[in-house]
Amino acid sequence: MCGIVGAVSRSGAVLEGLIDGLRKLEYRGYDSCGVAMFEGEAVQIRRKVGRLSELEKLLADGALAGARAGIGHTRWATHGKPSDENAHPHTDGSGRMALVHNGIIENYLELREELSAGGAVFRSETDTEVLTHLVGRELARGRGLAEAVRLSLKRVQGYYAIAVMALENGQPRLVCARQGPPLVVAATNEIGLCGSDVLALLKYTRDVVFVEDGDIVELAPGRLSITDFDGRPVTRAVRHVDWDEEAASKGGYPHHMLKEIHEQPDVLARTAFDRILQVEGDVDFEGPGFDDARLCALERIQVVACGTALHAGMIGKYLIENLAGVAVDCDYASEFRYREPVLAPRSAVLAISQSGETADTLAAMRLARERGLAPLSICNVQGSTVVRESEAVILTHAGPEIGVASTKAFVAQVIACYLFAVRLGRARGKLSVEQGRELLDELRRLRARLEGLITEKTVDQVRAVAAKHLKAKGFFFLGRGVNFPVALEGALKLKEISYVHAEGYAAGEMKHGPIALIEPGMPIVVINSPGRVADKVRSNIEQVKARGGHVISVGADEASHKLADDAIRVPACSEWLSPLLNVVPLQLFAYHHALARGCDIDKPRNLAKSVTVE
Ligand code: M6R
Repeated sequence: MCGIVGAVSRSGAVLEGLIDGLRKLEYRGYDSCGVAMFEGEAVQIRRKVGRLSELEKLLADGALAGARAGIGHTRWATHGKPSDENAHPHTDGSGRMALVHNGIIENYLELREELSAGGAVFRSETDTEVLTHLVGRELARGRGLAEAVRLSLKRVQGYYAIAVMALENGQPRLVCARQGPPLVVAATNEIGLCGSDVLALLKYTRDVVFVEDGDIVELAPGRLSITDFDGRPVTRAVRHVDWDEEAASKGGYPHHMLKEIHEQPDVLARTAFDRILQVEGDVDFEGPGFDDARLCALERIQVVACGTALHAGMIGKYLIENLAGVAVDCDYASEFRYREPVLAPRSAVLAISQSGETADTLAAMRLARERGLAPLSICNVQGSTVVRESEAVILTHAGPEIGVASTKAFVAQVIACYLFAVRLGRARGKLSVEQGRELLDELRRLRARLEGLITEKTVDQVRAVAAKHLKAKGFFFLGRGVNFPVALEGALKLKEISYVHAEGYAAGEMKHGPIALIEPGMPIVVINSPGRVADKVRSNIEQVKARGGHVISVGADEASHKLADDAIRVPACSEWLSPLLNVVPLQLFAYHHALARGCDIDKPRNLAKSVTVE
C-alpha cells in the first residue's frame, strides 16, 4: 500500500531524510514515487514511475537538496495506472500546495464533476486529485491550511491518510489527517514529522504519536497540535518505540525474507519464554483480559484474519479446540464482514494480524464487537489500530517484518495461539498442571529444534529440490489435521513470491476432484508428521503416486519419506507444534524457487505488505 512521509525542519535540509523514510516504507509495495519540496515562493514536485532509484536520478541535480520542508510518497496504484502523471504528490496547480494520500476516496467521481464545473483542471486519473482541488479552493478563500483540510475532508467519503503542505507567507505548513490507513507523527525541537509507519521516523526519534481515525494534526518543529474533524482539540499519548533501525535492516542477508526465516528461533524465545510459568504449567500474558473468570465464561471464539494470518488462526483452531475444548470458527475477514454472521453470545472475536492495520481484519473485528463479542487480538505492531481497539492483546514479538511474504510473523502468531490455548485450557480445567508443564516444556525445546533445522544443510537440500521443479506448471501442497493450514501456507508462499500456480489442499479431499489434475511428474508437496492422521496422509501419498505424481515429503514421518521421491526431514516434536517446524522448509522452498526464477523476493509484483484498503 502507499507510503507517506512529511517533514518540516527549523533549519536543516529534509530531502535526504524524506528519501530515507520512503526507503523504509518500500516494503509496503509501490509502483511509483515522488516528493514535493517547499522553500521560498514555489513548490517543486518530482515524481517518477518505478523504484526510488529512478526518483533519485531526477533529484541528482541537487536543486532541492537544501529545502527545509517537504512531503513524499510511494504509490500502489488503485485509481489510474502506474505512471509519472498519476504518481504523488499532486497539486491544484496554484504552485502553493501539494498533497500525498494513502487510501481511497469513494465519492471522487461526483467531486471531480463538481470541481471541473467550477474550473478545476485535472491532470491525473487518480481519486486523490479531487482532494488537492478541494483544499486548494479553501486556501484560495483565505483559510489557514488546517481549516482548509478540515472543510475539505467533510466533503469526502472513503479511507485515507493524507499529508498536505502549503506555503503561507513564504513559510511551509504541514498538516496530516487520518480516516483509516495508519499514520504516525512526531515532533522534536528541530523537526516535525509524519509517516505511514514508525520505521520512517526512527532516524529522528523513537517518541511518536499514533494518529487516530478522525484526527487532524498540524506539525511544526517542537509542536504537534491535534484536533478532531470539528476542530476540537484532542490529546494523544506520546509512545516510546523500542525498535531500532538495525532491527529493520537486512543484517547481512541478501533478502529480508531470508533474514526473517533465520530469525525464527529467536522469535519463538521472544514471543514465548517470558510468558511461561513453568511451576504452574501456565501462561502469563501481560495486560488484562486473560484471567480465569473471563476465559471460563467464553462460549466460542471467532477468528478473523487475512492471508498468512488466517492460516495461523486455522492452526489455532486445532490447538484451542483440542487443548482447551472451546469451539473456534475461522473466517476470512473479507467474507465475515459481509455475510451477516450469526454469533453465539458470550463469545470473543480474535483478530490476528501482523501489521494491525489490515482494512478487512479491522472491519471484521469492529463488526463482531458491535454485535457484542469481546475483541481480542494477536498482533505484531504495538500501537497499531487492531491493538488499540482490542480489550486484550497478545503481542507477538517478531520485530519488524519487512519482506512482503510473511514468515516470522506467522511463526509468532502460531506460538501466540499455542500459548493462548494452554492458558484457556488451564483456566477452564481442561489441562492439569502436569499437562500444562509438558506442553510448555515442548515449546521451550522447540527453539533448539528450529535452530537445528535452519542450517546450511537444510537450505542446500531444499534448494536442490526446488531446482528440480523450476519448470513445473503447478504444485499441490497437501496436509491434514493441524498441518492442513501449513499446506495452505506453503502454497501461498510459493504463489506470492515465485508467481507459480500452487494449490494447498486437505489431503483427504483430493480424491473428491483435484486428483484429476495430477499428471506424471507433477510436484506434490506432502506435509506429514507423527500424530493422529499420519497413516491417513500416507494413504494419500499412495494415491498420488499411483497417478504418477512426484511426491516431495516434508515433516518427521519417516514412513512418508520412504514412499516419497524427495524427502525433506524435520526434527520430531509433538503433533501440536509440528506446524512450526514443517513450515520452515516450505518458506525456504518458496524462497529458493523464486530466487532461481529471478523474482523480486522482498517486493513481489502486485503485492503490498500492509493492505489498508478493501
Ligand atoms: O498484516 P496482516 O497480518 O493483517 O496481513 C494479512 C495478509 O495480508 C498477509 O498475511 C499476506 O497474506 C502476506 N503477504 C502473506 O505472506
